[in-house]
Amino acid sequence: MQPIIIAIDGYSSCGKSTLAKALAKRLGYSYMDTGAMYRAVTLFAIQHQIDVHELSDAEIDEMVDQIQITFSYNRDKEISETYLNGENVEALIRGKEVSEMVSLVSQQSAIRRRMIDLQRRAGKNKGIVLDGRDIGTVVFPDAELKLFMTAKANIRAERRYQELKAKGQELDFEEILKNIEERDFNDTNRKEHPLRKAEDAIVLDNSTMNQEEQLDWVMNLFYNKINGDLKS
Ligand code: DC
Repeated sequence: MQPIIIAIDGYSSCGKSTLAKALAKRLGYSYMDTGAMYRAVTLFAIQHQIDVHELSDAEIDEMVDQIQITFSYNRDKEISETYLNGENVEALIRGKEVSEMVSLVSQQSAIRRRMIDLQRRAGKNKGIVLDGRDIGTVVFPDAELKLFMTAKANIRAERRYQELKAKGQELDFEEILKNIEERDFNDTNRKEHPLRKAEDAIVLDNSTMNQEEQLDWVMNLFYNKINGDLKS
């Protein structure tokens, strides 16, 4: 079976990365969390007190040259963790400060250009699942299987609320909902590579589906795709 590229785009807090990871595991594919890359760049900017909006493209290139982002699988936790210049920053990039800044940082075209370059290199040999906002439209417009994930904003906020509660963090539900709505607005209205459904992407609205149902649904699509391609 020829390996393919699976592109998963969609709104924030839709469970894209949970599904992408499960899919990669099931298929023996690699997985790339492109949102984590923008988050790591944001963390670098915060740590070095850099306002990326004040930088020229050349200065952004210089900054990105100082950043090395890698992923490493943690066997104990069974998750892939993000490293920034060799330091495990998985917890830091999910924190409030980075979450609030990341959609602004990810609007910078010079930063996007560099991240997209890295993402294309990672997908050169296929056999990869990538999740983000522009994978099926910009990064890999020829990806063999494209999904566009969505769910009602209040359901996404409720899931996020429960997730944070389970981690011992008490946050206001309305605040979470507001953050999700703001991110939706920024992601879909930004000038550079806004979140769009690729014409050939298949919509997965998971408002009423659990993780297992979503994985089954996509595996079905995957086999249909592979069988269809064999027949044609
Ligand atoms: O998926 P996430 O919430 O971790 O993504 C963090 C931010 O990065 C989000 O505001 C959108 C942006 N992003 C992007 O612009 N393009 C991508 N391919 C992935 C994420």
